[in-house]
Amino acid sequence: MTLKIPSLCKEIFDRSKEVIPGGVNSPVRAFIGLGIDPLVVEKGKGDTITDVDGRTFIDYCMSWGALLHGHAHEEIVKRGTERLAKGSSFGIATEGEEKLARMIVEGVKSIDQVRFVSSGTEATMTAVRLARGYTSRPIIIKFNGNYHGHADGFLVKAGSGVAQFSNTSSSSGVPKEVVKNTLSLPYNDIETFKKVMRDPFYSQFIAAVILEPIAANMGVVPSTQEFLEEVRKETERVSAVLIFDEVITGFRVRYGGAQELFGITPDLTCFGKIIGGGFPAAAFGGKREIMEHLAPNGKVYQAGTLSGNPVAMEGGLATLEIARAPHFYETLEKKTQMITKPVQEALLRKNQVAVLQESTGMFTLFWGVQSVSSFEDLKDLDKERFNEYFHFMLDRGIYLSPSPYEACFISAAHTEAHLEKTRDAILEFIERC
Ligand SMILES: Cc1ncc(COP(=O)(O)O)c(C=O)c1O
Repeated sequence: MTLKIPSLCKEIFDRSKEVIPGGVNSPVRAFIGLGIDPLVVEKGKGDTITDVDGRTFIDYCMSWGALLHGHAHEEIVKRGTERLAKGSSFGIATEGEEKLARMIVEGVKSIDQVRFVSSGTEATMTAVRLARGYTSRPIIIKFNGNYHGHADGFLVKAGSGVAQFSNTSSSSGVPKEVVKNTLSLPYNDIETFKKVMRDPFYSQFIAAVILEPIAANMGVVPSTQEFLEEVRKETERVSAVLIFDEVITGFRVRYGGAQELFGITPDLTCFGKIIGGGFPAAAFGGKREIMEHLAPNGKVYQAGTLSGNPVAMEGGLATLEIARAPHFYETLEKKTQMITKPVQEALLRKNQVAVLQESTGMFTLFWGVQSVSSFEDLKDLDKERFNEYFHFMLDRGIYLSPSPYEACFISAAHTEAHLEKTRDAILEFIERC
């Protein structure tokens, strides 16, 4: 049985479609392919959201990973509200920017300096511009299935022959001239990566390699240790800038991000989501030598009216202060494993063609595939089965991220009772398959 989305959700969505393209301000919110109109949310508290029709769901989207401590965390609300009462924006420096920058510098070993922006897209786009300015080279390498926001240079997918560098745009509106400066390669594929990095012609033009050290935008797909080590080695060899996109993994998988987990030091890192505590903030940072090339000190231009917004800085400060407490990440990992371990065991027991992949505070249950280490491994992904799974969970008051290519996020606010309820529902679904 499919949950009937009650009328107020539908009514608002229908009205939205008249004035907002597709009725949403980010495509995945439209529930494409799920056969129902999307939820319209009224409020959230802790690990739950309530829609405009008064239905409450346990939330595993958590604003796409932005809410490490759940919805409307008391301390974050209090501090955000107090800061807001003193003025929402000045376009002049505030002390919160220095404090949050210092927390990031102290928490993430590879970072000497940080520049705040308002979205992850801005962070990655500017990190790439900085890498190009710093190296005076044009080409960036990214990996298929990694998402770095929607700047033109990232909307590029591998064409039929990676070896021929025949990339194409994944969105209309992106000029060919832009596409030709991005190479998109298979993730976790050391051989292909090395081949490109050692190509006598291309290697001299590579400004940067950007990747998600744990991909979370094709579902959760961690890098292998070997792959990351090779990427670090090769970028160093040709003096290209290594950019870790930790917009999702930063302050989630560990306080020091995925780079702490893997013990690999990138040159630049991008953050977003968690560092704004649910307010719009993002950042990029790294080695002083590179960061000093940014305006006003250097010649690489970047600016933003709302960059380092004081309310967002306060949200980020409160969020990181809470996350800094002893054993925070052990607890988050234990909570994650309350779902992931029993589900993995059940999948094995039932001999299901499905796999659950995870990292601290996030997981994806892939249907129709046995293991995923690259986007290419997803060609047999069973979207129909995902639809059934999504509806089955929604009917039981559990809201999963609404796409088979996304991660589900666990926050510190998820209660044991709700995690158990979710685990039992997934196990019931597996039994029925
Ligand atoms: C890894 C990664 N990088 C960049 C972005 C872009 O961030 P934003 O949506 O804030 O522009 C996202 C968004 O989901 C992301 O997951």
